[in-house]
Amino acid sequence: MNNSRRKKKAKRFGAERPAPQEARTLWLHVDARRLVNGLIFGFLFAACVAALNYHAASKTLSVGVSNGILILAICTLYSLYLVSFERSVKTSRAVIAVGVVSLLPVAAAAWFPVFGIPLFLVPMTLVAFVFGISFSERTAIGASFMLCLLVGVCLRTVSDGSQSEVAPTDLMAVLFAGAAAAALGCGNIRKRSKLLKVGLISSIVQAALIAAVKLKAGQPVSPWVCSLGFINGAVSAALVSAALPMIESIFMVTTDISLLELSDQNHPLLRRLSLEAPGTYHHSLILGNLAEAAGEAIGANALLLRVGAYFHDIGKVVKPEYFVENEGMQGSMHGDLSPTMSTLIITAHTKDGAELAREQKLPNAIIDMIRQHHGSSLVEYFYRRAIESSDGKKKVDQSLFRHPGPNPQTREAGVLLLADSVESASRSLPDPTPSRIARQVHEIINRKLMAGQLDECELTLAEVHRVEQSLVRSLTSVLHGRIKYPEPEDRETAEEEHNGR
Ligand SMILES: [Fe+2]
Ligand SMILES: [Fe+2]
Repeated sequence: MNNSRRKKKAKRFGAERPAPQEARTLWLHVDARRLVNGLIFGFLFAACVAALNYHAASKTLSVGVSNGILILAICTLYSLYLVSFERSVKTSRAVIAVGVVSLLPVAAAAWFPVFGIPLFLVPMTLVAFVFGISFSERTAIGASFMLCLLVGVCLRTVSDGSQSEVAPTDLMAVLFAGAAAAALGCGNIRKRSKLLKVGLISSIVQAALIAAVKLKAGQPVSPWVCSLGFINGAVSAALVSAALPMIESIFMVTTDISLLELSDQNHPLLRRLSLEAPGTYHHSLILGNLAEAAGEAIGANALLLRVGAYFHDIGKVVKPEYFVENEGMQGSMHGDLSPTMSTLIITAHTKDGAELAREQKLPNAIIDMIRQHHGSSLVEYFYRRAIESSDGKKKVDQSLFRHPGPNPQTREAGVLLLADSVESASRSLPDPTPSRIARQVHEIINRKLMAGQLDECELTLAEVHRVEQSLVRSLTSVLHGRIKYPEPEDRETAEEEHNGR
């Protein structure tokens, strides 16, 4: 974004803005390369489905061709659905994993009858769980529906465990209902026990529908046939719960369950932070509350923001005494250092933090937030000191006083950058009245916008405005009635003090 456009954007900022329009996600608006990749995926998927069902294919040419056309049409629709609505599948590993997971129910429908396994055990619920947890409920329900269609097309006559016939549409209804029940419960799973509860609900739905289709067909409802529904739901939930780390690794996602486990303050890195850098630890806890509330205000991943805030300054444990919030009785450690050296020590905390996080195998989403939480912002305090000490004799290279970046790439990283900046600066307010807090927050956010720190994340101006309102609300409640904080020598530099000195 060029400077004039950025200025316009910052000028408009603060005005009441309408809610953002929902992003266009129809496949017609998908970029050409993604569309082509999606179609290639669809054709390959159709070929795999056809190969899996070769043994069951009709021997007459016309029926075989008709079936092939139906399979190709559904697989193409399936791939277009995924490229339109699921943009987080980016790596080839994730694409292959989506293909393999999608093939599971089709392969099961093709081969279960061969081995005498009841078709009510086709793992559609498993697919719904994997997609629901890794992506979204919408993706899980849409994918399950189309895969159910595919199962229905590939089956001509099916039989369940009791060897009595059941219509393909009835089987599709049972499988889809179980999958939808699982998918709808995947939205806010924060504990493994809830995953199992959702599995149980899916089990009950499937068992009830199996009984219904049996009654409809005028067949006896045996406990064995109904228990197949229970097995399908419960086993799927147990499998997903056990394989969660593997699913997260393959699809490169971080589930709420993992995030909640990371929010435990007994995590080795957080314990180390609390012991070696107590000031930073305290700042991180407050930031966790601020960032989570701001994330909720714009519908971002609030739990990711809370956990990201806990770990964002973890790199400061390497040299905690060089950061103002950890200065003890000994005072500033930067007195004898050159501004360049001080900046090097301060800006290293994002890189050190990312390395520590990698060693502890934290999710990539958290590592990205650690790396991006200062963007490429200027460490103004030391930059100004460098200019002062040069007395205008030589030009000071501004790039030496910048954080290494990258700038925030996600909405969550953008919110964390803003919340971190305002929380740090708020400590300089001697008399934090609501209006002073609001003014300071507005100025800081405007400055970040003008500096282009939010250009690469997908925050809209309306969202930034809502984040500002949330931060003002949270800070006002945090600072209300607080004992006056010792005023720093230079109030304007308080924000940089958090990052150094
Ligand atoms: Fe930081
Ligand atoms: Fe911070």
